Amino acid sequence: MYSEKVMDHFEHPRNVGEIENASGVGTVGNAKCGDIMRIYLDIDDDQIIRDVKFKTFGCGAAVATSSMATELVKGKSIQEAMEVTNKAVMEALDGLPPVKVHCSLLAEEAIHAALWDYAERHDIKIEGLEKPKSDIHEGEEEEEEEY
Ligand code: FES
Repeated sequence: MYSEKVMDHFEHPRNVGEIENASGVGTVGNAKCGDIMRIYLDIDDDQIIRDVKFKTFGCGAAVATSSMATELVKGKSIQEAMEVTNKAVMEALDGLPPVKVHCSLLAEEAIHAALWDYAERHDIKIEGLEKPKSDIHEGEEEEEEEY
């Protein structure tokens, strides 16, 4: 049911962890399955993604897609990272079963959420980037709560 690449990234996920003082952090969740994914980006002054880490509280496909997504954006420019869509991640993993496609969307959204956070902090606009819908803001005590 799962490709060898999916199993490999599930069993040996790359770039697991967190980055202290990250340039951008994005946390997204899927309301239906309850899975959560957080991506940390370390972006240098030339807007190159020097490092990336993730934490995923979710299914095996979500872990594998997060792992592959981090591999695909590492060392890339912001614009190149924008091209890492869920389709690109799935292709790199040699596909996912249809019922697991939504898991790969979480990885794309988490990267976009982290880029959005980076753009907001630096007061810049990233072409083609829209505010992620399922962005979960956590630990932002300084922000006023909205209900
Ligand atoms: Fe929710 Fe995979 S089942 S992300």
